[in-house]
Amino acid sequence: MFGTTLPAVALLAGLACVMPGTVRMATAQGAPAQEGGKLDVNQLFAGTCGWCHSDGGRVAGKGPKLMDTERSDEFIRNRIRNGKEGAMPAFGQMFSDADIDAIIKYIRTLKPDEG
Ligand code: HEC
Repeated sequence: MFGTTLPAVALLAGLACVMPGTVRMATAQGAPAQEGGKLDVNQLFAGTCGWCHSDGGRVAGKGPKLMDTERSDEFIRNRIRNGKEGAMPAFGQMFSDADIDAIIKYIRTLKPDEG
């Protein structure tokens, strides 16, 4: 019973921690949030963005496909920070600059699913 419920609870707890103060403090002290370690972008994306940007951003869902985007880093950064009225929520309160850098990197390295 615990085996199936615990991971979900841990995931929710993790998301709840990604709140303004905590993230900013962690990165202000120079914690390397971007280098693949601490912040699991795959998981973050799947949990926070994935219900609109399907298959990790590889295909269009409620939101557009992000893989192979021709948008500039600045555009992507702005969209994530400020969202788009009536279309996408703003995440500027939730993510630090380093987090957003990691997300941009994630989007840039998306590859089609194999197999
Ligand atoms: C509620 C649904 C929803 C969620 C959640 C969501 N998005 Fe979006 N996103 C959209 C929609 C809709 C658009 C298209 C907005 C427009 O019309 O320009 C969009 C646009 C974008 C774009 C610009 C794509 C382009 O080429 O114009 C990026 C980048 C993006 N989203 C990233 C993210 C990231 C990263 C997350 C998670 C942190 C996220 N989105 C969460 C719905 C969503």
